Amino acid sequence: MSLRLGDTAPNFQAKTTVGDIDFYEYLGNSWGILFSHPADYTPVCTTELGKTALLQDEFAQRNVKVLALSVDPLDKHLGWINDINETQHVKVGFPIIADDDRKVALLYDFIHPNASATATVRSLVIIAPDKTVKLIITYPASTGRNFVEVLRVVDSLQLTANYSVATPADWKEGEDVIVVPAVSTEDAIKKFPKGVKVVKPYLRYTPQPNK
Ligand code: BEZ
Repeated sequence: MSLRLGDTAPNFQAKTTVGDIDFYEYLGNSWGILFSHPADYTPVCTTELGKTALLQDEFAQRNVKVLALSVDPLDKHLGWINDINETQHVKVGFPIIADDDRKVALLYDFIHPNASATATVRSLVIIAPDKTVKLIITYPASTGRNFVEVLRVVDSLQLTANYSVATPADWKEGEDVIVVPAVSTEDAIKKFPKGVKVVKPYLRYTPQPNK
């Protein structure tokens, strides 16, 4: 099944390294990020799971719950976590889904047969509290994710969910944002009391409204 932005993220039940979960129950009212990994005991994934563990506080501050998945069984995941903790100097506490029957991988379109018939690609799916899919990024197995970018897109998604703004190229938390085209300049001036800079009628900046 293909998964696209705006779709409802499918619910599932799964075995994980922290016990059996119902995905929706696990997420509750939080945002969620589901990371797929090509396989256990692989070097790039080992660094990525270490980084995910290291950023636990950053995710928690943003009300984000994270989960990882690979199509290996639970006992293999548990052994691998020991290696991740040892080599990356972390304590992995988030769930890693044991998707050995590939149920979740197929539900979330993580198998791209022309890349690999069996392994999952390196995807991440960001899910809003209403369970809609807000962002999907897919990398090949050979390229580890940029976690600065992962946090940056969460900041952008959370900001733009609450204000009539969009974030420009390379935007970072605290920088000026763009007034969305649907808001007239007259209304923007009322909505954004910190000021609106009109560069072109369609290109209008305002200071980040929630700062
Ligand atoms: C890795 O995660 O290190 C990896 C997985 C599959 C192919 C290449 C690298």
